[in-house]
Amino acid sequence: MTHPPLDVAWTALQSLDVKPLAELFDSDGQRVAAWSRTVSNMLFDLSKTHLDAALGAGFAKLAAAAGYAAKRDALFGGEIVNLSEGRPATHVAERGQGAAADNQLAAQRHSRMRSLIDAIEGGAFGEIDAILHIGIGGSALGPELVIDALGRDSDRYDVRVLANIDGEAFDEAVGGLDPATTLVVAVSKTFTTIETLTNTDAAIEWLKEGGVADPHGQLIAVTAAPEKAVDYGIDETRVLPFAEGVGGRYSLWSSVGLSIALALGWGAFEELLEGAAEMDRHVRLNDDNVALTAAFTDLLYAQIKGAETRAVFAYDERLRLLPDYLQQLEMESNGKSATAEGAPLDRKSAPITWGGVGTDGQHAMFQLLHQGTHLVPVEFVAVIEHEDSLDPRHHLLLLGNCFAQGAALMAGKASDDAARVYPGNRPSTTILLDRLDPRTLGALLAFYEHRTFANAVLLGINPFDQFGVELGKEMAKRLDDDEARKTLDPSTRALIERAGL
Ligand code: F6P
Repeated sequence: MTHPPLDVAWTALQSLDVKPLAELFDSDGQRVAAWSRTVSNMLFDLSKTHLDAALGAGFAKLAAAAGYAAKRDALFGGEIVNLSEGRPATHVAERGQGAAADNQLAAQRHSRMRSLIDAIEGGAFGEIDAILHIGIGGSALGPELVIDALGRDSDRYDVRVLANIDGEAFDEAVGGLDPATTLVVAVSKTFTTIETLTNTDAAIEWLKEGGVADPHGQLIAVTAAPEKAVDYGIDETRVLPFAEGVGGRYSLWSSVGLSIALALGWGAFEELLEGAAEMDRHVRLNDDNVALTAAFTDLLYAQIKGAETRAVFAYDERLRLLPDYLQQLEMESNGKSATAEGAPLDRKSAPITWGGVGTDGQHAMFQLLHQGTHLVPVEFVAVIEHEDSLDPRHHLLLLGNCFAQGAALMAGKASDDAARVYPGNRPSTTILLDRLDPRTLGALLAFYEHRTFANAVLLGINPFDQFGVELGKEMAKRLDDDEARKTLDPSTRALIERAGL
């Protein structure tokens, strides 16, 4: 037993009946209202999951046993919630919702960021029409998602995001850009990440080859290790710091969002933060907040019903990068085998997050969702208001398909022919945004952050470290040294030899 009160709550939950969806709807005419909630211009419809009053009460007891409310308050209070690294997690302070001192520091950094943007827009960097944002993982996924979602019609800057160390990615990212008018933004919390540093070296070369006399003058660093960026050769006036307590995958709200603010404008960036702050307030002030209830559904399927994965489908092209972003947020946060206290985790960690866009997915992987033998809770994310230039019929078909998929997963269909049987009773949640604007997107992403945190608390995991990514990096470094290479296994040495490394 790692945590007796938690184990007792889990055992009680596991003994509860999980009733079929049809029965849940038949027995409760108010089910839709009971399991739906509107927060920040978004409807969260959890009615097509198997949560009912008894399971909800069981999970509420689990949350109490796990000390969810106190841990959430500790997060907002700037206390050390990342025990393994002895740090707070201060992303909420970037939205002005953390401890007063952290909020103040974040506001000061935002005002530095704004001054730099004013300088860029005022011509201090010459005529700039493109941004090459270099970063990987949390230093790229959030900004890329937000810019792709909201910046499609923006004519402010041509923003390219470069993450992979693959030279093909570099060539694609700079394709068509003019070095003379491109600002390079190197984003790395640690400023030690090999992909980002190598790509930044390549960008400096590219600027030089393009005739830029002072390439470093066209380079901005965003980092929580400003001294490393200065050692790299970037003048401190062009180094934007952010707090050590802001984890990479929680960092788009900080100076890491520089490219977002450049692409969308400062006003839109502030709206994004305000939307997230609205969700923060909802979570902080409500012990039964929507992020916690959504975490109950995650845990119901992953822990009680044995689901290995969860799928997220964005029925809106503008949100096509949402599954990629969530993969890091959820799997890097909660894919762990140890508890926050350092004991082995005696239950499953987070499920695998995957997904794509609708309706494309319907013609590819949805076969398995409807008839495969795996249980996969599906999340649909859709937007009511649309901005495309086509006949509204396109959007009606898009939304109609989204809703029809949830209905079909739940209803199923009988047939005498086994190949044509749809078992049904398959769960889904739908998050329906009134519109996709900075404020609503900010709230949506903050919802996912808080849901990930709630999952972690109920599992007893620390969501803010990521030691699992280190071993592979360390092994890659062994390639630099002949002696160290010999410590690698024979299969890996053979691959290295064959590739001529
Ligand atoms: O290797 C994983 C990771 O550390 C992520 O947690 C992080 O978002 C990414 O690499 C990039 O790290 P950095 O911002 O320090 O370059």
